[in-house]
Amino acid sequence: MSTHPAAEKTSRKLYIESYGCAMNFSDSEIIASIMGEHGFVNTQDELDADVIFLNTCAIRDNAEQRIRQRLIHLRQNKKHNNELIIGVLGCMAERLKSKLLEEEHLVDVVAGPDSYRELPKLVAEVDDGGRAINVLLSREETYGDLNPVRLNSNGVTAFVSIMRGCDNMCSFCVVPFTRGRERSRDPESIVNEVIQLKNQGYKEITLLGQNVNSYLWFGGGPKKEFKSLTKEEQDNSVDFADLLEKVAEAASEMRIRYSTSHPRDINEKVVETMARHKNICNYIHLPVQSGNTRVLEAMSRNYSREWYMEKIEMIRRIIPDCGISSDIIAGFCTETEEEHKDTLSLIEWAQFDFSYMYKYSERPATPAAKKFSDDVPEDVKGRRLSEIIAVQNKMSKERNSEYVGKEVVVLVEGESKKSDQDWMGRNDQNVVVVFPKEHYNRGDLVKVLVERNTTTTLIGKAIH
Ligand code: 5AD
Ligand code: SF4
Repeated sequence: MSTHPAAEKTSRKLYIESYGCAMNFSDSEIIASIMGEHGFVNTQDELDADVIFLNTCAIRDNAEQRIRQRLIHLRQNKKHNNELIIGVLGCMAERLKSKLLEEEHLVDVVAGPDSYRELPKLVAEVDDGGRAINVLLSREETYGDLNPVRLNSNGVTAFVSIMRGCDNMCSFCVVPFTRGRERSRDPESIVNEVIQLKNQGYKEITLLGQNVNSYLWFGGGPKKEFKSLTKEEQDNSVDFADLLEKVAEAASEMRIRYSTSHPRDINEKVVETMARHKNICNYIHLPVQSGNTRVLEAMSRNYSREWYMEKIEMIRRIIPDCGISSDIIAGFCTETEEEHKDTLSLIEWAQFDFSYMYKYSERPATPAAKKFSDDVPEDVKGRRLSEIIAVQNKMSKERNSEYVGKEVVVLVEGESKKSDQDWMGRNDQNVVVVFPKEHYNRGDLVKVLVERNTTTTLIGKAIH
């Protein structure tokens, strides 16, 4: 690897702060790797940093507002260190582009999700007295050849990115604009990364993508549908179920998880692959967004309430004890009271173990922002969200109570937030379990007898 001029100032310190989804946290590990090759070492202390990168999220307005406040605060650090370089990376950088440099004067570097290889060069441009920006999106970049530097790691669980971008175009979502076109990563590089993690002692990996079920490797480049491949490409192609199997076999003593699934694309082949391999965890994150078919259509989700219910039935038929979680949006444009009630009834019907629940937040330039007015009043959105949360909490508590008196196998991830005498880990279905430490260690698989539960947690003790 050639040394970039930026590396000449040896051991400059880099502080990275990540916001948003797991994909972003995973990207920060790629960023650390690229910067590391150019002489930057990571620091956990923002006051000690020569370069501060915020890897940002643009999914809802409140995510951006939080980051803006943080940037205003960080600018104060320049008073103590006038050579400090501040960069905004990721989805908010891609959405706002040069606006962050020119209008708001908040930062020195702006870099979108496909331009991280350029970061050392962009920093060097700032060293030379300029401001630097690269927000080009790529149709090929997967960073597949890089070795992510594990940041803030518990040494037990790690993320592995298997694809980038998103072609779904859900009408509410900014991601297709901030992360560009969907492309899959070479399966060989994915398996190699997993084996490396195994050799480093990691016990669990989560394969990451915006829509993992549409993963398709046929030699690289922008996404194509299977049916549009040549016969030869089809014969050599690797779909998500094939990839899952390869990973499960390459690391048979590790737990394998994945996220996120799209209800339109999840299929029996994937669920049967999960059922065949004991080390693939019985847990699926399957965002429904709304329980009403007309609203789903307005969201361009490409499935109906009934289609979603059939997918849940298919999963429960093949893996009866599968954990299932969801994402739900309250008060999407034009949603009526009756349609909102369909979401409440679907949560009860599907018996989600857990959901991420949000008020709709209009994102500029998305299809929904162009087509509809954001016409559900704020107080109505708030009330609908509270109702959704109340039903989901009731479901979660009920689902968790079914574990009481039973044994679960827990992978110990770290200390419980509430007590340094207890370990915290997850069972196969991704439910958090807390139990007294005794002689157990981080990374152990421990059989725990569940004694009681809350909405979010199972509490018990180890069985010797
Ligand atoms: N407003 C509210 N929630 C949104 N999400 C995506 N876009 C928006 C938006 N504009 C939610 C969806 C998605 C999750 C990652 O964030 O539920 O699944
Ligand atoms: Fe946020 Fe979406 Fe970007 Fe993830 S992909 S950081 S959730 S905007």
